Amino acid sequence: MYYYIANWKMYQSLQGITQFVEQLSQDTTSTFNGYNARLKIAASYEQIDFLRRSLLGVSSVCYGAQDCSQYNKGPYTGQVSVESLADLGIDFCIIGHSEARIYLGQSSELIALKMKALLAMEISPVICIGETLQEYQNGETIERLYDQLSPIFTYLKEYTGNVKIYIAYEPIYAIGSGIVAKIEDLENIFNLLHLMIQQLSVAKNITFLYGGSVSSSSISCLKKIQGISGFLIGKMSIDFQELKKIVDLS
Ligand code: PGA
Repeated sequence: MYYYIANWKMYQSLQGITQFVEQLSQDTTSTFNGYNARLKIAASYEQIDFLRRSLLGVSSVCYGAQDCSQYNKGPYTGQVSVESLADLGIDFCIIGHSEARIYLGQSSELIALKMKALLAMEISPVICIGETLQEYQNGETIERLYDQLSPIFTYLKEYTGNVKIYIAYEPIYAIGSGIVAKIEDLENIFNLLHLMIQQLSVAKNITFLYGGSVSSSSISCLKKIQGISGFLIGKMSIDFQELKKIVDLS
């Protein structure tokens, strides 16, 4: 059974959420509802509570955030603490998405601090990593992924908790482009990622996801790849019927 994390980014509206939850509640035929805790939705900060209330009594689909502050409290205008997200009952939080790394200048060290804050509140981090097209073409993929994971691993070496940790490999050139990374590349990369975590005592709590143009047309191929336990889905997850197709096809 795969994990499916819908990353709604800044695509969704309150009306869209209402329609999505309405369709979810009417859906009794597919495997979709049976997925429960394996199906998760990352909403934007201001929509989390609306989504939470819309899902009440309708579905046990989990919900989460798309980023968080590394700070717990204090004079950090515009930032959102893990503690306040925990008050909303979030189950997970995406960190290190390439859009946050690129547009907000977030470094891998900062992302490791965010992970630390999440783990302290027992919220699952969904840590995104991925290389640019240029890095891919230069054969620098592994080096880049290692750089991004290094501060994460430094902290995880000392972590003894039991919180589930997700690592999502999302090649930047595959995000929102309709281009899915090559199967043979993905096989090698996931194989290597599994090897990289073997040294960690929390390895058993780590789950690997793939993200980047996951759709109902690409899912059948992607699910054949060893080492992928789930998917991070952007654009295609806004539409309930498309997301349902992705889940049902797996
Ligand atoms: P996409 O986005 O599915 O729209 O390519 C994935 C992501 O950025 O998490």
